[in-house]
This record gives sequence, structure tokens and C-alpha cells, in this order.
Amino acid sequence: MIAKYEAKISGTGHYVPKKILNNFDLEKIVDTSDEWIRTRTGMFERRIAAEDEAVSDMAYHATLDALEMAGIKPKDLDMIIVGTISGDHPFPATACVLQKRLGIKNFPAFDISAGCTGWIYAANVAKQYIENGIAKNILVIGAETLSKITNYKDRNTCVLFGDGAGATIISRAEKKDISRFIDSEITADGTYYELLVQHAGGSRMPASHETVDKNLHTVYMEGNKIFKLAIKSMYSVCDTVLKRNKMDVKSIDWLITHQANLRIIEALGKKMKIDENKVIVNIEKYGNTSAATIPIALDEAVREGKVRKGDIVLMASFGAGLTSGSLLIRF
Ligand code: ACO
Repeated sequence: MIAKYEAKISGTGHYVPKKILNNFDLEKIVDTSDEWIRTRTGMFERRIAAEDEAVSDMAYHATLDALEMAGIKPKDLDMIIVGTISGDHPFPATACVLQKRLGIKNFPAFDISAGCTGWIYAANVAKQYIENGIAKNILVIGAETLSKITNYKDRNTCVLFGDGAGATIISRAEKKDISRFIDSEITADGTYYELLVQHAGGSRMPASHETVDKNLHTVYMEGNKIFKLAIKSMYSVCDTVLKRNKMDVKSIDWLITHQANLRIIEALGKKMKIDENKVIVNIEKYGNTSAATIPIALDEAVREGKVRKGDIVLMASFGAGLTSGSLLIRF
């Protein structure tokens, strides 16, 4: 398709719940230690949603900040896409719940299930709708409350996840704008889907007393098998967009990857041979917030004045599916 228009990120926002769960708190819950978690993952704190706080609530707060930065109102939106695997309900889409809360209607609103790659997948879809001229302002969110589907008796998973939401407004770029989407790549390898799965609650294994008793409605993950695949797949999607645009790592001002494990981020940075000062990391504060990690990190970096107008930013993620994706932009 020849693009009629170009897309850009015109606003960002994020929200994290107030409650903090740190490594020392986790030591009291499962057989783990601050030392193990820090050295194996780089994490220290994560945020945990309140009992009455769902994905759409967090997404709503993040959205208000993103709209303000973009200088638009909810009525200016013409699509909402939410990347999540822990939405308010199995159905309807959390995007529709958010649409109601924002007081707007009569345009498409849907969720994308791509695990931690959810926001990149959603941004990739939004890019197409901006480029073909169908939409002008799309609200693209990555938001999760993984704490609600985490088994706090399983030390392999419960130390990793936190809750949060990141919102972005993806808009049509004007001719005079320097901000632009340069390229994006998304892919998946379903042969590995069983490595990261919520077994119960769907049609394969409907919810029952037994599934709840056995904690089958919580995240199951074979983390060490995913570890190497994560580095390989993120490297591949980054390499694809850089090569396709005849760019190399020296042209990148900032690399923002999914925050699943500091060792994964460092190994990817080393493989890409990127200056470590260009790699944005906030895993110590929030842990793995799945689809929300990249839009949260992007918003923080923008508001801290690190990422500035015109900077080249490469973003990459991987997650349940196993999915992976990259997004290359001039902010
Ligand atoms: N505290 C103490 N010990 C632990 C803990 C813990 N919290 N968790 C595991 N261990 C133990 C294991 O039982 C094992 O013990 P053993 O040797 O006696 O059997 C030992 O530590 C090593 O376990 P590994 O699983 O091999 O540890 P690893 O170094 O691989 O770290 C981790 C585990 C952090 C999960 C890592 O593999 C990882 O980050 N993987 C990638 C996860 C990921 O990115 N998933 C995709 C995104 S998530 C999404 O899409 C929702």
C-alpha cells in the first residue's frame, strides 16, 4: 500500500497504582530473596492495582494525560485500541469500556491480545489506519493488571509482574511535522505458545471450581525457555526495521525495549552494539507490566526531557504467543 499520510505520536501518558510491592515484601510471601530477584531480573519494586481497580481505570488516567499532551479532546478520537491480556472482562473489549468512560461513541474500539507485545501490535495497526487516511487520532494503549492473574504461591512468576498503563495518541502528521513513524514490524511464532499461557477461563478449559483450586486461571510461564528466544526475536525485529530503512544502530538516539528482565535488555543491547546510555530502563521501579512497559517508559522519558522532538527512538518487545515486534519513530 502506498501511504496517503504519515503517522506520529502526538501525546503520551501513563498511570501506575499507588500500592508498592517490593522484594522484601515478596520475601515474606514466597521462598525468594531480594538478592535473587535483583541479580536475576533487575527488579526491586512493582505496583499493584487496588481490589476495585481494573485495566480500564488505569487506562483512563493515562489517557487524560496523553490527550492533554496531544492538545485534543476525547471527541477528537476516531479509534481506540487497547493492548492487554488482563482486560476488565474476557469480553467485551476493554477499549469499549474505556470508550464509555470517556463519553464518546460510534467509532471502532477493540483490544489486541499479543501479550507483552500488545502495545507495539496496537501501534502497528494504528499506523495503517492513519496512513490510509481512515483515522486522524487513535488512542493506543498498553495496560495490564497481571497481579490479578498471578499465583502468589509460585515464585517463578509472582516476583516478576506489576500493574500499570501507558497511553499514546497516534495522529496524522502534518507536512511541517518532523515527528514521523519510520517503520514497524510485527510477527509471531505460535509453536511456542505453551511456554506462556493462562490455561483456564477460555474454551479449552472453561472456569470451574477445580481450575480455580488448582490456580489454572493464573499465569503459567517457562521463563528460562523464553529467555533466549526473547533476545533473538527482539534482535531480529530491530534488525529488520533498521536494514529496511538503511539505518544502523548509530542513528538511534534511544532504545526502549520490553522490561521483562534486565539481563535480557543488557544482552540485546550488547548484541546490537548500542551505547548503554541510550537504553531506557525502568524495570527496577515497575517490574514487568506486560503490554504497558514500553508506553510507560516512553512517557517517563518524554516527561523527564530525555526523549525530545526529533529523536530517533527504536522500540521492541516480545511476549505471549510468542509474539514480537518493533517500532521505529522520529519522535
Ligand atoms: N526466587 C528464588 N529462586 C527462584 C525464583 C525466585 N523468585 N524463581 C526461580 N527460582 C529458582 C528456580 O527454582 C531454579 O532453582 P533450581 O536451580 O534449584 O531448580 C533457579 O532459581 C533457576 O531458575 P531459572 O528459571 O533457570 O532462572 P532464570 O535465571 O532463567 O530466571 C526468569 C528466571 C527471571 C523468569 C528468566 O528466565 C526470565 O526473565 N525469562 C524471560 C521471561 C519473559 O520475558 N517472559 C515473556 C514476557 S512476559 C508476558 O508476555 C506476560
